[in-house]
Amino acid sequence: MTDGAGPKVADSAIARLIERVGTDAPLGVFDSGLGGLTVVRAMRERLPNEDIIYLGDNARVPYGTRSPETIVRYALGCARELSSRGVKAIIVACNTVSAVALDRLRAELDLPVTGVIIPGARAATRASGEAPVGVLGTLGTISSGAYTRAVASFSSRTEVLGQAAPLLVALAEEGWTEGEVPRLVVRKYLDSFFGPEVVEGFGLPRASKVGCVVLGCTHFPLFRELIEREVREIGGRGIPVVDSARETASDVEAFLNERGMRSRRDEAGRLELLVTDKPRSFEAVASRFLGGAVGGVDLVDLKPE
Ligand code: DGL
Repeated sequence: MTDGAGPKVADSAIARLIERVGTDAPLGVFDSGLGGLTVVRAMRERLPNEDIIYLGDNARVPYGTRSPETIVRYALGCARELSSRGVKAIIVACNTVSAVALDRLRAELDLPVTGVIIPGARAATRASGEAPVGVLGTLGTISSGAYTRAVASFSSRTEVLGQAAPLLVALAEEGWTEGEVPRLVVRKYLDSFFGPEVVEGFGLPRASKVGCVVLGCTHFPLFRELIEREVREIGGRGIPVVDSARETASDVEAFLNERGMRSRRDEAGRLELLVTDKPRSFEAVASRFLGGAVGGVDLVDLKPE
């Protein structure tokens, strides 16, 4: 089962869906919080005339530390909410949900559902050559082994080294992405991607065990520059840092084109933001993820599953 382009929905089901909602219907995107806005940003660049409804379940963030059963339950709640608003496809802008709940969402919904892991793994396999791929993700994503399987589907020779980095989710939702605290957290998490110090205490470059570092959580692009800097600092040279946002957006574009589901409108698509909680810092943090000003935001109460 893939989570990238071409979710397996029969042509007849697509025809029924389009008859019901029309090709101008919005795309539904969700994440546990605001991280998925990094995917929305890439989608708006790639598909400027599509309407998007984004749902951030920030009342229940983080998902990454929860059990698979709970992640599935939360994900179903988000997907059903979007489906009830007449979306034409759902993009799971969350690695944790893509890793754990994608099959279930596909089984339950009459909609194409696509995730971020296959696109991320494809970009990483390309960037890494045949060196191992280093993945920073949530506990849920890393322990699911989803990246290992996804990378293996592109290259049987490429290994995956996973590192759970749960504190980065909290720091990102908090907007705390600069300064000594995030730097030390990033450094600690990157440690397992490097060999031992040659001579202890001398600060000499350490050998890298990985050919690239994947931001395997949609909250982590906010730390991209910091991660790039720390990778250079530890290893004495740069290593590609990849995220799945652009690759996901181009998969969504290809899928919509193939299935005749692109909006035919010329004007710019609208973005509707829904959240399950609205902390005071919401607008400032959301605009950093989105890379621009945030318009109106609505609070929603998800129905109990
Ligand atoms: N942004 C999400 C991901 O890509 C989830 C973070 C979390 O809620 O733990 O995995």
